[in-house]
Amino acid sequence: MRRSIVEGIGHYLPQRVVENSEFEDKLDTNDAWIRSRTGIERRHFAAKGETTSDMGTKAAFAAIENAGLSPDDIDAIILATSTADLTFPSAATMVQNGLGMQHGFAFDVQAVCAGFVYALATANSMIASGQANRVLVIGAETFSNLMDWSDRGTCVLFGDGAGAMVLAAQDDPSSSRGVLAINLRSDGRYKDILFVDGGVSKDTTGHLRMQGKEVFRHAVEKLSNTALDALEQAELTTADVDWIIPHQANKRILEGMAKRLKVPMERVIMTVHDHGNTSAASIPLAMSTASSQGRLKKGDVVVTGAIGGGLAWGTAVIRW
Ligand code: ACO
Repeated sequence: MRRSIVEGIGHYLPQRVVENSEFEDKLDTNDAWIRSRTGIERRHFAAKGETTSDMGTKAAFAAIENAGLSPDDIDAIILATSTADLTFPSAATMVQNGLGMQHGFAFDVQAVCAGFVYALATANSMIASGQANRVLVIGAETFSNLMDWSDRGTCVLFGDGAGAMVLAAQDDPSSSRGVLAINLRSDGRYKDILFVDGGVSKDTTGHLRMQGKEVFRHAVEKLSNTALDALEQAELTTADVDWIIPHQANKRILEGMAKRLKVPMERVIMTVHDHGNTSAASIPLAMSTASSQGRLKKGDVVVTGAIGGGLAWGTAVIRW
């Protein structure tokens, strides 16, 4: 059976680091509240003029280098984002241009914070069907552009950045590596608990609006359920899992999920303290960070899941 394996991973974070204390002057908030309610200590914000595709291109180069390849080896680019540079063309084609690629094809996927899992699922299907052999899967976001800076319940939560993965076909029947299962879900009944109140059909870009408590409740329940469904599809159990790499929204969501799955926190990769919530970029950022720390090794069973606006959610099980 043709499987997709992870060949390389990389990331890029903008230079500007914003500590929680920076919000204290402008808002009725403080470092202790943000840390205790979210686990977030700092986040990176893009520089003025630094775009989603700029960051995606840098992450893409890092992943291609990590795989020991060149852009010539990539067949396709699938980029997950809700904050593309322009309404069109896609940020993916901008990354394609940034990589100097004049072959193959590139497009964006929009599933908000679940975007990377959806992009991975799309790449995996294209590889399985033979449409592509090597796909660059990117999550890149500039959520700082969507913040209402007077809303302390949202603007302290998010950050900017990009992560990228090289996913490639392998036909070796003796290898057990690769994407083992993917579970995707969405339910549009919940569109009003997390959304941006602007867009092309409106007259502004808009700001992110969220019913935090409601989102929190859905996140813990749905992230655990989709992880269990994906594991069942892969004919594995939580006892087989080496690493859980969840979307980095809030430390307490990750703890709630780990508790429901009965997985110790030592097996959960956590980067939310340093990155904040970077939406579709958070999973590849966490993977790349864990990989560069030497924690993520070939053959490890990785369960990676996310939930975001829609609601849209999902999980991939990967033997790294
Ligand atoms: N600093 C100080 N106080 C704050 C802040 C802040 N930054 N934000 C909210 N508060 C206040 C509220 O105004 C409220 O005050 P009040 O009681 O006087 O009205 C009080 O803290 C409690 O507010 P709650 O919203 O009930 O606080 P909660 O403990 O639920 O924490 C939070 C809020 C952190 C947003 C939480 O609901 C949460 O993490 N939800 C998940 C949302 C999330 O992570 N979304 C990311 C996008 S979706 C995703 O990626 C999964």
